[in-house]
Amino acid sequence: MSEPQIFPVPQDWARRAYADENAYRKMYEASIDNPEGFWREHGQRIDWIKPYTKVKNVSYDKGDLHIRWFEDGTLNASANCIDRHLAHRADKVAIIWEGDEPTDDKKITYRELHEEVCKFANVLKAQGIKKGDRVTIYMPMIPEAAYAMLACARIGAVHSVVFGGFSPDSLAGRIEDCASNCVITADEGVRGGRKIPLKANTDKALEKCPDVKSVIVVKRTGGDVAMKDGRDVWYEEAKAKVGADCPPEEMNAEDPLFILYTSGSTGKPKGVMHTTGGYMVYTSMTHHYVFDYHDDDVYWCTADVGWVTGHSYILYGPLANGATTLMFEGVPTYPSPSRSWEVCDKHGVNIFYTAPTALRALMREGEGPVKKTSRKSLRLLGSVGEPINPEAWLWYYNVVGEGRCPIVDTWWQTETGGILISPLPGATALKPGSATLPFFGIKPVLVDNEGKELEGATQGNLCIADSWPGQMRTVYGDHQRFIDTYFSQFPGKYFTGDGCRRDEDGYYWITGRVDDVLNVSGHRMGTAEVESALVAHAKVAEAAVVGYPHDIKGQGIYAYVTLNVGEEPSEELRKELVQWVRSEIGPIASPDLIQWAPGLPKTRSGKIMRRILRKIAENDFSNLGDTSTLADPGVVNDLIDNRQNKS
Ligand code: PRX
Repeated sequence: MSEPQIFPVPQDWARRAYADENAYRKMYEASIDNPEGFWREHGQRIDWIKPYTKVKNVSYDKGDLHIRWFEDGTLNASANCIDRHLAHRADKVAIIWEGDEPTDDKKITYRELHEEVCKFANVLKAQGIKKGDRVTIYMPMIPEAAYAMLACARIGAVHSVVFGGFSPDSLAGRIEDCASNCVITADEGVRGGRKIPLKANTDKALEKCPDVKSVIVVKRTGGDVAMKDGRDVWYEEAKAKVGADCPPEEMNAEDPLFILYTSGSTGKPKGVMHTTGGYMVYTSMTHHYVFDYHDDDVYWCTADVGWVTGHSYILYGPLANGATTLMFEGVPTYPSPSRSWEVCDKHGVNIFYTAPTALRALMREGEGPVKKTSRKSLRLLGSVGEPINPEAWLWYYNVVGEGRCPIVDTWWQTETGGILISPLPGATALKPGSATLPFFGIKPVLVDNEGKELEGATQGNLCIADSWPGQMRTVYGDHQRFIDTYFSQFPGKYFTGDGCRRDEDGYYWITGRVDDVLNVSGHRMGTAEVESALVAHAKVAEAAVVGYPHDIKGQGIYAYVTLNVGEEPSEELRKELVQWVRSEIGPIASPDLIQWAPGLPKTRSGKIMRRILRKIAENDFSNLGDTSTLADPGVVNDLIDNRQNKS
């Protein structure tokens, strides 16, 4: 492999940033040598109602696994995001909302945010929602989505945001799993000029969820929707009946703040549960150092609030820091592929944080749509969600940033709550494609498949040796699943599910998932979920799903499908199955390629050999390994002959 190019820290960045190389090293060492002392100090960066005296109480021992931070402190997350800024920043813009249409935008100050959130909280109370109740939020990217989340936090209700692209079935499963009895939605969402029938989807989902007692509907498009008497209320009408004063509920540091469902290698999506104190400390601190946020900066994270990136880095982290955070309803290619950069120019965005898949899609359009915009406000660029290939990194750096903006490639997960491995812009020399070095308090370790820790420049399974405040606390309602998933394969460590290489400089290079989880356009997808959707179709006998390299999406979904006896493959059926998966899970799970497989390669004990299926999908037959143990070795040749990815 050729030596990667190194981009040193620009002088002006080293001078102005919160941490230069020296400061990073010192703080990192302190955080590892004395985590208790380090976090005792930095826990104070947020406001506590009752200060903590205890800092860390963690055991990764399977028999008694618990993770507690600041456990005797009390606070309120929404007060940290809003109330504490009212004394000095009441008139500062908290949220810039940019609508789907370029003519549609809005600015919300901290004072206005306070009033909106208090009113939303009072609407929730009027619906009978109390501390500890679970509230499902199924919303487009409009300010009310942020108000709704912060309103839950204000009264101590636990929000579970479900991405607006999920199907009614997926929504129903997530409502049922956490027994939530209230849903907040909108009549319709709008993205890229197209409408998304959120209320109609909710109605369909609720046919399966009779326990939902109230549905609060925000008007976005004014489209025609059905309202069920006694269950559904229009937000605007309910809001007119409540006051603008709602004192924040005093919450324990370890009270749940939210649940967010994410895919694993087996079974249904898991309800990742985050609590209040540690999460707020960690997201605000990472936002401060990784994005080097200063008071006048305009910061834009392009994620959707339906994903963890939206929770931690559109909402909680930036607002805890009193930032101006931009929330975008649309897509980067509407009405033209210049949109992202036009939005940067329009609002003077200084810090821009997006996913490699978006960059690859824009790269395909060439430099023209970028170059016709100024982008002179941009100072720092960020990447998240999947490995960024060096070509996309260099395009981002040279074309978008014109060689003057460092790129922070931030590695983290829904489970980690915040960024764990990332450059700090004033401290870390960059290598395109590497997430570089761990954040304060993070101790990455690479282990082989037997769990042996590997030293020096090496490659292995990425684990984290110790806890950090933003770590998830449990799988909602299933603590055993939490233990089994993250702490069993390599006892005593948190296992991330990612493979990783460490180079001679100690830099980390994430190589992708080592389990049966796909990363499609930065969205996490369990192969098992797509398979179970496929076999739920009446004509399908069996299905096996794997990932394959995809130019834009990073990974595409490749499905091998065995039909029931008597069913004939056809183009029509192929389309029907794609549509079927879209409606069962959501458009993000659409298979890219479907191969009809009269048989799947199985061991004699009946286990599908995914390794072989992955190779065929990758169009790589050089190293299929030993196929002689297969029950019917002939199926492999048939699959190779009829492969769909012949590029
Ligand atoms: O495989 C890693 C990849 O995304 C996974 C986490 O997905 P999710 O929980 O949906 O959270 C995404 C946003 C934080 C990881 O296990 N991943 C995320 N960021 C990076 C990454 N892979 C490489 N480089 C990254 N910067």
